[in-house]
Amino acid sequence: MTLDSISSQRVLIRFDFNVPMNQGKIVNDFRIKQSLETIKVLLKNKNKLIIMSHLGRPKEGEYSEANSLKPIAIYLSELLSIDVQLINTLDEEISFNNYEICLLENTRFNIGEKSCDELLSKKYASLADVFIFDAFGVAHRKESSTYGVSEYLKTYPGMNIKHEISTIDRLIKEDSRPMTIIISGAKVSTKLVVIKKLLNKCDYMILGGGILNTFLKAKGYEIGKSLYEKDLVDEAENILNSELASRIIIPSDLLCESKNITKNIDIGSIDKEDCIYDVGETSLNEIKELINKSASVFWNGPLGFVEKKPFDNGTIEVAQTIAKHNCFSIIGGGDTLPIIENLNLQDQYSCLSTGGGSLLTYLEGESLPILDKLNL
Ligand code: 3PG
Repeated sequence: MTLDSISSQRVLIRFDFNVPMNQGKIVNDFRIKQSLETIKVLLKNKNKLIIMSHLGRPKEGEYSEANSLKPIAIYLSELLSIDVQLINTLDEEISFNNYEICLLENTRFNIGEKSCDELLSKKYASLADVFIFDAFGVAHRKESSTYGVSEYLKTYPGMNIKHEISTIDRLIKEDSRPMTIIISGAKVSTKLVVIKKLLNKCDYMILGGGILNTFLKAKGYEIGKSLYEKDLVDEAENILNSELASRIIIPSDLLCESKNITKNIDIGSIDKEDCIYDVGETSLNEIKELINKSASVFWNGPLGFVEKKPFDNGTIEVAQTIAKHNCFSIIGGGDTLPIIENLNLQDQYSCLSTGGGSLLTYLEGESLPILDKLNL
């Protein structure tokens, strides 16, 4: 069954339009742009589309302006050059009038969405003839709009999720070695399990951000005022004591800030006043060498404090090195994508993934609830 063969139907589609926003403005539109192919194929065959997405984590049962999909509806209208009708309530029947696309307000405003409530799932299913799931970013969540609805409606994958899964499967199945995995970001808790599992699959594991700091702390290094997760130091220590720990690359130097002065400091010389904000010069060269001898690279999360120059340097150079090197590459995580787009490198990788947590979950080998239904 291809999307091309669906015609003159009411089609319910789940996308992941959970994009970074700043005061009602879309900061990065990558996920929205990745939905266009599916939308265009379905519109070509005279289907009427009802699109669903969440945005952020609002309190169920309460409307919040900051989490409204209003800006997304406006932006989608601009991208497609057709009006998109925003539907605020599920209590009334959806009438398309002259519209071809309706966008339902944030699914997480609906009571029962997160718990995959049966009634809400049936309500969504009653809106259309067929359900298309094209939200890889939220495929690891079992919610009414991501999974529940598929119990009550014929369900097929969208174009983007099909492409992403087949590309990621190449990384997993072809096992192109040496493989380098780069995992970075502020939150260790969401990524520690994944680090443990992915150590099995790679040759080199490069860590950055709060994750790296937690591992440095576990190794007994002074990390000054740097961000880390205290509760997870023991767990990081367990990983460092495991058989595969030699695959984790511990940087020899780091770029730090101390009393507003930026300094490149050797790992053993960090002071109580220092704050680690990026990898150091020597370490960055080592990382680039590892990338250049890898057949495949998977990267999730910026290496340093990219919001503040010059601490975006490590991330920029890593992005450029992967782009230049002829290897199989998958890059995911919402924070990395804006940097890549600013550098205009978005076409230089095997796959820029719309997934963050879902991508890590998939790589870990965990099953994502909706994927079986989609036969992916
Ligand atoms: C994401 O941005 O990772 C997805 O949209 C999932 O969002 P969630 O973590 O709030 O479920």
